Amino acid sequence: MAQQQFTVTERPDRLAEMERLAVLADPGFGKTFTDHMVVASWDPENGWHDWQVKPYGPLELDPSAAVLHYAQEIFEGLKAYRHSDGSVWTFRPQSNAARFARSAARLALPVLPEADFIESLKQLVTIDEPWVPGADAGESSLYLRPFMFASESFLGVRPALGVTYAVIASPAGAYFSGGVKPVSLWISQHYSRAGVGGTGAAKCGGNYAASLAAQIEASEHGCDQSVFLDSVEQKWIEELGGMNLFLVYADGRLVTPALTGSILEGVTRDSILELAKDLDLQPEERRISIDEWREGIESGQVTEAFACGTAAVVTPVGRLVWEGGEISMGPEGTAGPVADRIRSTLLGIQKGQLADTHGWLTRL
Ligand code: COI
Repeated sequence: MAQQQFTVTERPDRLAEMERLAVLADPGFGKTFTDHMVVASWDPENGWHDWQVKPYGPLELDPSAAVLHYAQEIFEGLKAYRHSDGSVWTFRPQSNAARFARSAARLALPVLPEADFIESLKQLVTIDEPWVPGADAGESSLYLRPFMFASESFLGVRPALGVTYAVIASPAGAYFSGGVKPVSLWISQHYSRAGVGGTGAAKCGGNYAASLAAQIEASEHGCDQSVFLDSVEQKWIEELGGMNLFLVYADGRLVTPALTGSILEGVTRDSILELAKDLDLQPEERRISIDEWREGIESGQVTEAFACGTAAVVTPVGRLVWEGGEISMGPEGTAGPVADRIRSTLLGIQKGQLADTHGWLTRL
């Protein structure tokens, strides 16, 4: 297929270097955006067209745009990493493109070809390359957020005939404000994130909106995140809403909930299952009940737990809290040895410090 042609309009007043460097020194997560964005349009007659790289700024949207009413929207998250020779790479973008296509199918949005997805990342990272944190900036990277939404002005409930695709970018440090410290999890017993046959496996905004009431409940109980259980029996661990979950067993097993259709198929999750074999761990995907987790902590069989995702990388879990009880796990205040090893291996590959034996990196 012919490569899309991009119209490039440079921002005349790019953020001054001093201000940019100040942001890069302490980026936080999702707070500051680069100078440009990519935008493209789709309709049934013209397919994907009008590809633009333009100054970052508000999108014009009609108040009747379908996304504002029926949430027909999907997104992705991946990162660009600078290596010590100055080159910039991203991690498994083909997997994000494939998941974006699956999410599009579930939300009745048009599929964006993998080549266009990857080219849109290249275009944005090329023009905003000074925003990619330095190789020496620890885990900092440039977070890339491709997204697609129903922009057609129409209030009937049907798949939109006018769709917008865009990519924005934001320098990112640790996702949690405390840095890479163990987080506490609230077991949500009032709310489910997704149900059988629903949109749980799709990366759509609605799933994240549905997680927020539980997030409020978690905060009210002094926790960082909520852990969601299955919606039928309220028994089986699913995920955290923005992260997948792994348990580490004393005998070397590394267990994560099997994909049931209501759990997001995390790219980091999948990479950790692969890396586990390199690290002499025994990966397992299966159902895990919340009681197995609690009892495993008590008996010493479950030695660590960690959340993972593009934004969270590998974040240790230090405490599990529920209505009427709580239990601590892992070494206080720091990651356990297995989470630590997985985290540094993953980051080492992403930052070009360890060999990319799986062929996961793509140069941007
Ligand atoms: C990611 O890890 O990229 C996510 O999408 C999680 C969250 C920031 C929504």
